[in-house]
Amino acid sequence: MSPAGSPLVVAGAGLAGLSVALAAAPRPVLLVGGNAGSASALAQGGIAAALGPGDRPALHAGDTIAAGAGHNDAGRVAMLVDAAPGAVAWLAAQGVAFDRDGEGWALGREGGHGRARIVHAGGDASGHAIVAAMARAVAGAAHVTRLPSHRLCALALSESDAIAAVRLAGADGSTLDVATDALVLATGGLGALFAATTNPPSADGNGLALALEAGAPGRDLEFVQFHPTALAVPGEGPLPLLTEALRGAGAVLRDARGEPVMAGRHPLGDLAPRDVVAREVWRRRQAGGGVFLDMRGLGGAGLDAFPTAVALCRRHGIDPRRDLAPVTPAVHFHMGGIAVDADGRSGLPGLHAVGEVACSGVHGANRLASNSLLECVVAGRALGARLSAHRDARIRAAPRRWVHPGAGANAAALRMLRGLLWRSMGPERDDATLAEAERILRVEASLARTWQARLALRLLHAARIRRASLGAHHRVDG
Ligand code: SIN
Repeated sequence: MSPAGSPLVVAGAGLAGLSVALAAAPRPVLLVGGNAGSASALAQGGIAAALGPGDRPALHAGDTIAAGAGHNDAGRVAMLVDAAPGAVAWLAAQGVAFDRDGEGWALGREGGHGRARIVHAGGDASGHAIVAAMARAVAGAAHVTRLPSHRLCALALSESDAIAAVRLAGADGSTLDVATDALVLATGGLGALFAATTNPPSADGNGLALALEAGAPGRDLEFVQFHPTALAVPGEGPLPLLTEALRGAGAVLRDARGEPVMAGRHPLGDLAPRDVVAREVWRRRQAGGGVFLDMRGLGGAGLDAFPTAVALCRRHGIDPRRDLAPVTPAVHFHMGGIAVDADGRSGLPGLHAVGEVACSGVHGANRLASNSLLECVVAGRALGARLSAHRDARIRAAPRRWVHPGAGANAAALRMLRGLLWRSMGPERDDATLAEAERILRVEASLARTWQARLALRLLHAARIRRASLGAHHRVDG
């Protein structure tokens, strides 16, 4: 394919990638990757928007910045919350059937929100419902070609370090080179690099690692969010999530004696921002006590709005109508990522990023609940619309050098790395543990030259140089 007629390549088909692809019409789009296993599809939270009586985008902005510990870019927060009601309407126009309450939206509440402002679709199956509707809309869009079984494995830069081509790997081991002057990374987060996470295995930081390798600057890499209520069950792989909306509907965190854990800890109690609740749960578990989510007060009817959480509990032998569910913090979201400007541009011409892989500064040091799917849609739509016509004058198309992520860790090495990152970059951090993790990553032969270790070292470095606690980055020695 010649660069003149080159498609916009979008790597990642979660909600951010789907939104870019749809909004980029009529420009030809090559959408790479499947959406079924994306973090978007697993999301139980919905989309935050100031839609309720008396609510205003400015109040939504205030909660976003309070949760983000003031580290947010206020201008980008304003753009996000102002666009939120329109994003909900746009999704509804794409076929998303949001839950209704009579004539209006059914609005739920989650941690850090001063009022009920979360729209869901299919209760806590929101991510699945939203992604399914968007995937149907994309399937009907003539300008989008899908390669659901391929993944981005390398990119080529031109003489002027602009995107010139991408290499896509098929499931059968074949590769496909595509000339392009515009690549959007929508590859999601990196929770799968941690032992305890709610993220799917595909959220392993691969897009971020490739962009950093190519020379794109990263930002805020130390800010990793911990969700306070993953179901504490044994085994490898993602931990089942018990959505914050359960606490919004009245579920309570209790200790083993049945005492409420968040009483007196924060004015919002069980609905304090996620970092506050996650640290409380973490400390109690570190001290040897269990923490449990008590959903009994919701009753059968209340639990009907949470089919996903109920099914996850039942799969692990817990009946939420009568049992308490043991919970643990788990990595849930990366606030850091590829540094992008307000228009989704990275530091490399032609390379754009959107959604969790990007860091625009909107989430600050700790993301507010249900602002992530919102960001995927708002930033994705804006980026797609900009790229529908835009050509970057700085871009010279001829590839000069290929950038590959490098060797990947084998399963045993990856297990070691996940344990190391969880112990050193978990809800509480100190320099000695961070430094020891760095040392091991450098000397351990099975990890030393892998892309996962290189990315982990970037995170550890960022966590070491931020000596004071801020938001989700909590230094016990700071
Ligand atoms: C949740 O449902 O608790 C998670 C929502 C989110 O990550 O925003």
